[in-house]
Amino acid sequence: MLEHDVLVVGAGLAGMRAALAATEMGANTGIISKVYPVRSHSNAAQGGINAALVDRGDAWEEHAYDTVKGSDYLGDQDSIELMCQVAGEELISLEHMGVIFNRDDEGRLGTRAFGGQRRARTFFVADFTGQAILHVLYEQLLKSEITSYEEWFVTSLVMQEGKCCGVLAMEIRTGRVYLIKAKTVILCTGGLGRVFEPSTNALIVTGDGIALAYRAGVPLMDMEMVQYHPTTLKGSGVLITEGARGEGAYLLNKDGERFMERYAPSMMELASRDVVSRSETIEIAEGNGINGSVLLDCRHLGEQLIKEKLSQIYDIGLDLLGIDITQEPIPVQPGMHYQMGGIKTDVDGLTSVPGIYAAGECACVSVHGGNRLGANSLLDTVVFGHRAGNHAAEVSKGTTQEPLDVEELVGQEEKRLAEILSRDANGDRVARIRLDMGTAMNAHLGVYRDQNGMKEALDTIQQLKERYTTVPVEDKGRTFNTDMVFDLELGLMLDCAEAIAVSALERKESRGAHSRTDFPERNDADWLKHILVTSTPEGPKISYSPVVITQWTPEERKY
Ligand code: FUM
Repeated sequence: MLEHDVLVVGAGLAGMRAALAATEMGANTGIISKVYPVRSHSNAAQGGINAALVDRGDAWEEHAYDTVKGSDYLGDQDSIELMCQVAGEELISLEHMGVIFNRDDEGRLGTRAFGGQRRARTFFVADFTGQAILHVLYEQLLKSEITSYEEWFVTSLVMQEGKCCGVLAMEIRTGRVYLIKAKTVILCTGGLGRVFEPSTNALIVTGDGIALAYRAGVPLMDMEMVQYHPTTLKGSGVLITEGARGEGAYLLNKDGERFMERYAPSMMELASRDVVSRSETIEIAEGNGINGSVLLDCRHLGEQLIKEKLSQIYDIGLDLLGIDITQEPIPVQPGMHYQMGGIKTDVDGLTSVPGIYAAGECACVSVHGGNRLGANSLLDTVVFGHRAGNHAAEVSKGTTQEPLDVEELVGQEEKRLAEILSRDANGDRVARIRLDMGTAMNAHLGVYRDQNGMKEALDTIQQLKERYTTVPVEDKGRTFNTDMVFDLELGLMLDCAEAIAVSALERKESRGAHSRTDFPERNDADWLKHILVTSTPEGPKISYSPVVITQWTPEERKY
């Protein structure tokens, strides 16, 4: 019998931090991941993690204000305050676990500037910060008593009388379905980047936890807020870290002009991401780009700095475009990068459905609002992963496991998967539907949006959902059937896509990353509120919740 007090789904930074916290609290803890943990997408986080350290003359209130302003006042200020208050502690605890952060000339932890922040408070490991932290957390996981289910795919949450009691999961190696009982389940499955094509996100980033929670009745919040990162490699959409601009790189148009001077004269290239992405889009649309891109110029930073602090993007330039970035500027364009919205939680990761927690990118505790600041996502994962792990462990102590009919539950899920496997070829392909979805989302829910485009995207998604019900899986075997995994992921992605489109159509204003050409102004009177979407048998249902304002009254955002 597979059974835990706390079961964490997803083994990226939020997941591992949650599992470590839960086990430290004495909970019998399991962690389940569809990939080997160090292949989780946290691996791809490049630029760093934010914290305001007092001994640098910084203050958490400054960090919080930058975050609130960055969010275009949609972030809940109480959650933001909490995150910024504990950021230093979390950072130092990562350092103590063994993360070898870059040092400054005096030997202290080094910082770099990042977008939307008036101070350099981003701590980093060259341009592979996520990877460095992920590996250190994995070492801690290996040392711990946590049971790790690696390369297992969660197919459903098990609900009994309105409470989550575990998951059904497929061991990918054998294709067998198991019930894993749990008193609490913490979803830490990351974002949904690949609902869009292209995206900076790994192919595995398919919104699994978001859709599983949605199907179980948990509301999703702020789903319309999708971040386009200003510097993704032209064509492939691979991330070129904001750390490059933090170190001083310029954005240039075809005439060699630092065009950000016209859009954000005080912060220039380090304005918030939504502002920079819109500026680039305007430049390109007005014919000031070069074949659909602008240029990121690192040349003046010098070879030594580039090779020491930006070594990954140096390699990306060489490997993917054949350019030496110490000698040539990099063609970049805005690209889908991050989902600000997600599973609505409180600051302890708790959702409105008993037994279901969430943390990290799949969650919306509302610290990013309409636009996340670079390097606040790693912070979010460790702060709220930690808190969710603590809280779930505590709650599990006072909970008795519901009796479950294992055979019945596993049998039903086996039957569902067998039906998918048994479908005959009909000319349709999972990959085709996935690409059509991603293309429609990128075309109509990207940097700029309008009613007609979003409606078209929603219609497309709804047609693709129909096609999905009969799409065949070509591999009919059970052993390492990645075709089957792709099929299951696609179903989850389509639910996420629909939730995004429905929420975006609802918000009739421009705020943060949600920029509507038909409603170009922010409208606090009507829209200073969160949009929630809940799955019902009749389709997605919209509701609202208030934004928590503590000390910063919304004002016009200028950089
Ligand atoms: O540009 C970057 O390095 C990305 C960082 C982030 O999204 O936080």
